[in-house]
Amino acid sequence: MNKHLTLNPPIVNACGILSYLDVFERLEKTGANFGAWVPKSIGPFEKQGNPNPTIYNDGNVMLNAFALPTHSIQSWINEFENTKLKKPIIGSVWGTKPEDYQNIIKKVDKYVEAWEINVSCPNKEVGEKSLMESMTEKIKDIITPLRNTTQKPIIAKLSPNEDYITITKSIIDHVDYVACGNTLGPGLAIDIYSKKPILAGFAGGMSGDAIKPKTMKMVNDIYKIASKKDVKIIAYGGISKWQDIVEYAIAGASIFGVGTALMHKDTEQITEYINKMWTSVENYLKEENTSFDKLVGCLDG
Ligand SMILES: Cc1cc2nc3c(=O)[nH]c(=O)nc-3n(C[C@H](O)[C@H](O)[C@H](O)COP(=O)(O)O)c2cc1C
Repeated sequence: MNKHLTLNPPIVNACGILSYLDVFERLEKTGANFGAWVPKSIGPFEKQGNPNPTIYNDGNVMLNAFALPTHSIQSWINEFENTKLKKPIIGSVWGTKPEDYQNIIKKVDKYVEAWEINVSCPNKEVGEKSLMESMTEKIKDIITPLRNTTQKPIIAKLSPNEDYITITKSIIDHVDYVACGNTLGPGLAIDIYSKKPILAGFAGGMSGDAIKPKTMKMVNDIYKIASKKDVKIIAYGGISKWQDIVEYAIAGASIFGVGTALMHKDTEQITEYINKMWTSVENYLKEENTSFDKLVGCLDG
């Protein structure tokens, strides 16, 4: 039997957006109704990431070249020890080899309800060998031993950039969820006057509304494999309105992460926005005389 989370509502922040426990605490105080919190990915060593500018939004798509800036594991443990958060925390972890993932999970396991295994970030620092490019070959070796490392649900966060069908088939017996997906790309934006790349990191992962159709296909492709094995899907990619959640549910997702859409909002705005989102989904379910469980994966075609 796989282990599944009961999130109320089944909406989380996408990893890397909002990111830190004090931000989540402020949101809980204003009544923001997320079902769980996903802090920034924890990695094996401290890392600054790229210098600014790390974010560019042309109005259609966002590019980010953060390149996984990372605090020390101890500073994360201090944060977790002192948090007053009431909602569950889904830990996110990145590494460069299987042992990195295992070591971090062992140290931080007692503070989280589930683990999201980030094997999918396309960003890198200038001159850095990409941490996650060509992960296809390594993902099975990273994911498979984790059942012996943690009893918590395991979520493999896969990239839309790689051969996610082959990867899913290779790990499906060792996970409880597949998260679809991370940022697309990376992509390039150029300043036409300086003729230089706009991002200091040269290229950046694409997110926001524009990537939704790609991730929608990924959700549905993976649902067809995962649903036979009692593995559920988390959708990340361009969710900005309640209809996106319904669409992703029809494609096969049962948890929904909102990322880029939260980035230009303050605490009060996020609270109002996220609370309306799930109420609107519930209204839709009533109007359609159906239930959430019936909706998940009901795509006709
Ligand atoms: C600024 C930024 C930082 C991110 N950092 C992480 C990260 O640390 N770990 C991770 O797994 N995904 C990270 N992501 C990817 C998001 O979690 C999400 O998968 C992606 O942005 C697609 O969702 P969206 O279109 O709703 O933003 C980041 C995305 C952005 C825009």
